[in-house]
Amino acid sequence: MEKLISQTSIMTLYGHYKHAPISPVERLFVYLRLRLSSYQVMEKHVPTSGQIVDLGCGFGMLTVYLALLSQARQVRGVDISHRRLRAAQFASAHIHNVAFEYSDLLQYTFDRCNCILLIDTLHYFPVPDQNRLLKKCYERIGPGGRLLLRDSNKDKKFRHFVTRFHETIMTRSGFTKGEMLCFRSFAELTNYLEGLGFFVDALPMWHRTPFADTLLVCTKSQTTNDSPSR
Ligand SMILES: C[S@@+](CC[C@H](N)C(=O)[O-])C[C@H]1O[C@@H](n2cnc3c(N)ncnc32)[C@H](O)[C@@H]1O
Repeated sequence: MEKLISQTSIMTLYGHYKHAPISPVERLFVYLRLRLSSYQVMEKHVPTSGQIVDLGCGFGMLTVYLALLSQARQVRGVDISHRRLRAAQFASAHIHNVAFEYSDLLQYTFDRCNCILLIDTLHYFPVPDQNRLLKKCYERIGPGGRLLLRDSNKDKKFRHFVTRFHETIMTRSGFTKGEMLCFRSFAELTNYLEGLGFFVDALPMWHRTPFADTLLVCTKSQTTNDSPSR
C-alpha cells in the first residue's frame, strides 16, 4: 500500500490550505490544529483500507490526512459548515479517495463502513441526541470496525475547565458552529458505549496542550450479531 506522506510530515498538509478560501484567522487555526491535535496518533487506530467516515470534519485536515496516508481508504467528511467544507474541498482537490458532504449529523444517513470518527464534536448535542448518534454509529460499523471518539474528559477538572472555556469562546463568537455545549463524564460515556457492544480503550490525548482531550478507541466485535443492546 503506497503511503503518500510520511507519518512525521503532517505539517506538509498545511500547504494544501495555504491558498484555501479562508480568512487569516482560520488559516492560523488550521495551522495550530495541525500542530497540536496529534492526528498522527489517531491515524494509527484507523483501518488502512475500507470506508472511513469523519463526522464533524471541520476544515477536513484529519480527513485529508487519512486519505493521503492510504489510497485503500475511501474517506468521507461530513460537516454543517459550508465555509469549512469549501476549504476542505479546496485542500483535497486532486485527491481521489476523499469526498466531503454537507449534513447535520443528526439527519445524516450512511452506508455500512469500517471506521467512524467523531473528533471534538459529540459535545454539541444534548445527551439523548448523543446517544442516538452513537447508536447509529454502532449499527453502521461492520464487524471488527471502529469508532474513534475524542472529546474533553470531564474528570480532568482543570483541563476540562480550560477546554470548556475555549469551546465557549469558539461557539459564542460564531467561529465554530455548535448549538450547545454538553460534555459528559467519560465513565458514563464508556458505560454507554460498552452497553452498545463496543470494546473501549481510553487514551489521554492532551500531550503538550492545556486541554482535556481524551480518545476513546471503540472496537466492534468480529463476531457481532448486530443486535445492539440499547
Ligand atoms: C471542534 S470542530 C472539530 C473538527 C474536526 N473534527 C477536527 O478535528 O479538526 C467541530 C465541528 O463540528 C461541526 N458541527 C457542529 N454541529 C454539527 C452538526 N449538527 N452537524 C454536523 N456538523 C456539526 C462544526 O461545524 C465543526 O466543524
